[in-house]
Amino acid sequence: MTDLDQTHPAIADLRLRARRRLPRFVWDFLDSATGAETTARRNRGKLDEILFNPAALFGELDYNLGRSLMGRDYALPFGISPVGMSGLVWPDAELHLARLGTARNIPYCLSGVATKIPEDVGPLTDGRGWFQLYPPRDAEIRDDMLRRVKASGFDTLVLTVDVPEPSRRERQRRGGITHPPHLTPRIFGQCITTPAWSLETLRAVRKNGMPRLAFIEDYTGQTGAMSSTAHAGYMIRTSPGWDYLRALRDGWDGPFFVKGVMVPEDAVRLKKEGVDAVWVSNHAGRQFDGSPASIEVLPAIREAVGPDYPLIFDSGVESGLDILRALALGADFIMLGRAFHYGIAAFGPKGAAHVVDILARDLQANLGQLGLPSYEGLAAKLAHPPAP
Ligand SMILES: Cc1cc2nc3c(=O)[nH]c(=O)nc-3n(C[C@H](O)[C@H](O)[C@H](O)COP(=O)(O)O)c2cc1C
Repeated sequence: MTDLDQTHPAIADLRLRARRRLPRFVWDFLDSATGAETTARRNRGKLDEILFNPAALFGELDYNLGRSLMGRDYALPFGISPVGMSGLVWPDAELHLARLGTARNIPYCLSGVATKIPEDVGPLTDGRGWFQLYPPRDAEIRDDMLRRVKASGFDTLVLTVDVPEPSRRERQRRGGITHPPHLTPRIFGQCITTPAWSLETLRAVRKNGMPRLAFIEDYTGQTGAMSSTAHAGYMIRTSPGWDYLRALRDGWDGPFFVKGVMVPEDAVRLKKEGVDAVWVSNHAGRQFDGSPASIEVLPAIREAVGPDYPLIFDSGVESGLDILRALALGADFIMLGRAFHYGIAAFGPKGAAHVVDILARDLQANLGQLGLPSYEGLAAKLAHPPAP
């Protein structure tokens, strides 16, 4: 058996293999950002600028890589970000990733625009699943969705607020993806060159039909008289206000997080409104190409909300070292979206499991360089602490 850690020791290796194995329209859907993709590159560049002072002669370390969030102990300080149409990247990805999260005791967040419904995935999360919602316009539909999400075994609700409009995603458009995917001659031509993905997907399509926005489509057709409003885009593409936030907060019994926050004042207000954790993210540069890197805004958000308020972080994380960087700048917990999908596209479910191993090993390797057995004291190791 091949030792993946020998042949594919970094997320970058999985990315390269995923790129070869996915038809172009799927690859461009997974990998593209918006505009000139400057913010996506900036996420990477700004993480690389964060440096630590290595330590020497500190004796043996007894590592503890675990991390708790909201009173819950996780084996590692990271989890799996919500990715819409995850099952297009690899059939049943949502089920595989939910099982992986449970098996390794890390959180998995199911997207509200996934190819699986909450009832398929919730039971695999051991009552600890996170569910991400794009806010439905219709309050009745929203309430029914939340009832189903809760009954399926999800306990944490995540509201994403950085998609007030669909973004351009020019590269994704050029790749030719449509919703739902159609087998045009062009897409067919792409699929011929990627037999592993195509055969696996064909098998799944025979069983379950084309990958689609399964949860949303349970409700299309229910938005009243105007058929032009009865489609997925209309139902969920809305820009909620503070009243909407309160309705969600009051209607959800369990931890409630808000994802896509980049401004300290917003984070402070969300804290005041009773949101349990703020998720600092620029959606991996997929929404707004004029945004700072999410790591750039993290210190100011930490400063604004105080030392004890839970902050989650994502966008551009590719290694254990990146995770340490975000922890050092004030994050409590780190999430990764594309990395797990590069893994599953590259090697199926074992590729996603390999991502957990890569990150865990890299965490320990780099903590060792800092002379730290755990994440306590990381900030003091920064070579250039951020200006207050
Ligand atoms: C293909 C793709 C689909 C995504 N779909 C969603 C989604 O449905 N809901 C959401 O809140 N974020 C979504 N995101 C954003 C991720 O949750 C996450 O913020 C981002 O991927 C983190 O950056 P990373 O991929 O560099 O780890 C998506 C990201 C990708 C790459």
